[in-house]
Amino acid sequence: MDAITVIRAKRDRTELTDQQIDWVVDAYTRGEVADYQMAALNMAILLNGMNRREIARWTAAMIASGERMDFSSLSRPTADKHSTGGVGDKITLPLAPLVAACGAAVPQLSGRGLGHTGGTLDKLESIPGWRAALSNEEMLAVLDDVGAVICAAGEGLAPADRKLYALRDVTGTVEAIPLIASSIMSKKIAEGTGALVLDVKVGSGAFMKTLDDARELATTMVGLGRDHGVNTVALLTDMSTPLGLTAGNALEVRESVEVLAGGGPSDVVELTLALAREMLAGAGLPDADPAKALADGSAMDAWRRMIRAQGGDPDAPLPTSREQHVVTAPSSGVLTRLDAYGVGVAAWRLGAGRARKEDPVQAAAGVELHAKPGDTVTAGAPLMTLHTDTPERFAYALEALEGTYDVAPAGTEFTAPPVVLERIG
Ligand code: URA
Repeated sequence: MDAITVIRAKRDRTELTDQQIDWVVDAYTRGEVADYQMAALNMAILLNGMNRREIARWTAAMIASGERMDFSSLSRPTADKHSTGGVGDKITLPLAPLVAACGAAVPQLSGRGLGHTGGTLDKLESIPGWRAALSNEEMLAVLDDVGAVICAAGEGLAPADRKLYALRDVTGTVEAIPLIASSIMSKKIAEGTGALVLDVKVGSGAFMKTLDDARELATTMVGLGRDHGVNTVALLTDMSTPLGLTAGNALEVRESVEVLAGGGPSDVVELTLALAREMLAGAGLPDADPAKALADGSAMDAWRRMIRAQGGDPDAPLPTSREQHVVTAPSSGVLTRLDAYGVGVAAWRLGAGRARKEDPVQAAAGVELHAKPGDTVTAGAPLMTLHTDTPERFAYALEALEGTYDVAPAGTEFTAPPVVLERIG
């Protein structure tokens, strides 16, 4: 086998054989296939696709690249959630402790920012002292004690994905259904969760821009999960505008804590509760009441214990940006559009995301929204505040925001799309 033959095969729209897939995934993980060769193959997959057999085999090869975890020693049923990535998608932060407070165990292996979308680990790392890297033993101990853990996948879990994910982020090869489906499901299957809820984002700020593409991705992933004995469902959810009022690491932690305290933006609360209900039903706890756990403070207790168990101080002040720039409404009326992709790129350019895989992120960078579609705005009043520690980034971020919002005359009718668009599974 050699990498060039495999690249040429996919470039020329030939189906890859099981042997080619097994070999190329394994050889890349071991460093025998170079990054530039895998980048070329990823681009060929993005352009020419893969059929169901190829995706299933590619996923199995990624699972086989590492170890599989085992949570059978836990007394609670396990349930996990994975989002395909969006702008302002901080849902994992309130969701994991909430579901733990309702009786399930949540082994949430999370990732870093990818392209214009934020990463859960980057967000949590803005909490002073918090540690993403846990050994398998530490992870099990936190799960056993608190019921929820959010951490990086260990070195041994789907190592092929770790390399591929970082490579795709910087080679323009994120938005490919076979690569997204195999990336997500290899980690979730290897992790060994009993139930899995997939939050498949649809809209400008998502990797899937249309309902048809999102349905295809969701159906592919639900099929992969069930083939491996994981009780999997998917919700297709709106990502035409950012979730909540913040996009950026520490900004999103602050908003998540507001939700856990019983407040927070209504779309974040609604999606957190919808996903919690699905996770609890999948784990065999359909009668648990997540709204009560948010209201009575038990979800907040679980959050504080979870943050402490990973070295973080839940009471420490979060980092704030050194520089701010306010964008004002151009006219008075109703905000009818605020594009998620533009806001995501702006947050990324302000320093919340990375341009190269080795780049650090700024904890305090991002975009804070003062209005959402449907809100009334006044000419000259703040529409959003941009945060960064490096003010030379403002001009580039403002460029990303050009043409991303519309204000219609006062009285214009506006109906927001539902938060949850469809359920698959
Ligand atoms: N999340 C992942 O884990 N992988 C992807 O490819 C996209 C989102």
